[in-house]
Amino acid sequence: MTILVESMAKWPAATHIQNEGVGLFRRGSSGYERCLTRDVEAQKASIELGSRFRDCSKVIVLGIGGSAMGLRALVDALATPEQAQRLVLLDHLDRTALDYELASADPSALGLIVISRSGTTLEVLAWLRELLGQRHFTQVAAVTASPDSPLGRLASDKQWPTLSIPDDVGGRFSVFTPCGLLPAAALGLPVGELIEGAQQAQSDQAIQWATDLKDLLDGGHDRWLGFFYGRSLSGFAGWWLQLLSESLGKSDLPLFVAAAEGPRDQHSILQLLMEGADRQALMFTHWSKPAETPGSGPDLLGLGEFDLNAIERILFDANSQALSDRGRPVMRIRLEPTARSLAACMQNWMRATALLGAYLDIDPFDQPGVEAGKLIAKARLGLA
Ligand code: PA5
Repeated sequence: MTILVESMAKWPAATHIQNEGVGLFRRGSSGYERCLTRDVEAQKASIELGSRFRDCSKVIVLGIGGSAMGLRALVDALATPEQAQRLVLLDHLDRTALDYELASADPSALGLIVISRSGTTLEVLAWLRELLGQRHFTQVAAVTASPDSPLGRLASDKQWPTLSIPDDVGGRFSVFTPCGLLPAAALGLPVGELIEGAQQAQSDQAIQWATDLKDLLDGGHDRWLGFFYGRSLSGFAGWWLQLLSESLGKSDLPLFVAAAEGPRDQHSILQLLMEGADRQALMFTHWSKPAETPGSGPDLLGLGEFDLNAIERILFDANSQALSDRGRPVMRIRLEPTARSLAACMQNWMRATALLGAYLDIDPFDQPGVEAGKLIAKARLGLA
């Protein structure tokens, strides 16, 4: 497992609150850590239950927000094309997209996994109404922390195998609970390696990230941008953005978090990063795939032996370097493209986020700001 982290010239090597961080960590017994230490049974159960979906032509996963974004991160990075094609993740309300994805699937071999910590989420329950009357599923399972919720009661009535998640694990911290691991196992992803990688994550790294970012925030770098190189990191980028935004965007904190994809967004946002106001803390992450043999078409530029992976790496190096040379705070993370590295990196971002919450006196595990819109929608729908 290799994760290379490099703080470039203007990135702080903050130390002043690091000791406090270590103390917080030692005291920490949050569910997202316990699921890798004391409470590993549910994770093992995910592997067994997931294997029952092995013959499903499609695995439909109902889940939204943090409860689904971890899965997307795992699939984008690690799934083979065949594994990825078996997943239908309904984190939207678009029936046409579902019909399109199921058009070529064997309708007699569908699996359904319903994931909702609260068991009350509108989008998830709306899809259940659409699906259960119309389609037959050979395998069904549920993941919820709330047996008394509408989902929990339905799962019990229908005797669906149901896995739970610790009460104190919100969706965005749930990737290594059955929320992420059950569907990952159903698709055949290397769940054991994910658990090992997360267990082996070096917590010093998370403490350093949290400490540095607090320092940057205090110094006016209040826009944190993750620049993710490699299409395989698309899901990771969305997960990371949600983790930091929903956890820390509270108490009028002057913080904004954004994610960009490289090299694509060099052609959209890089100009602003280079020559706009110096308010961004820039975190570059690369899914470092090895070089391959270049294509055999005309070499119009004289690229020689540089294949697409090598060009991507050079663009990652060059643009992070250019921003650092411009005086911007830049950190670079190079991930070996393995399940263990991905898992360790995700675990450390969850830790860093939790620590930042402690440093900023913010509860990173709630999301009161999303309730107002839910209440208005419920009133419009005539729901209590
Ligand atoms: O990160 C979070 O806590 C949220 O994004 C939730 O995952 C999302 O709202 C879905 O909630 P639930 O799992 O209760 O359906």
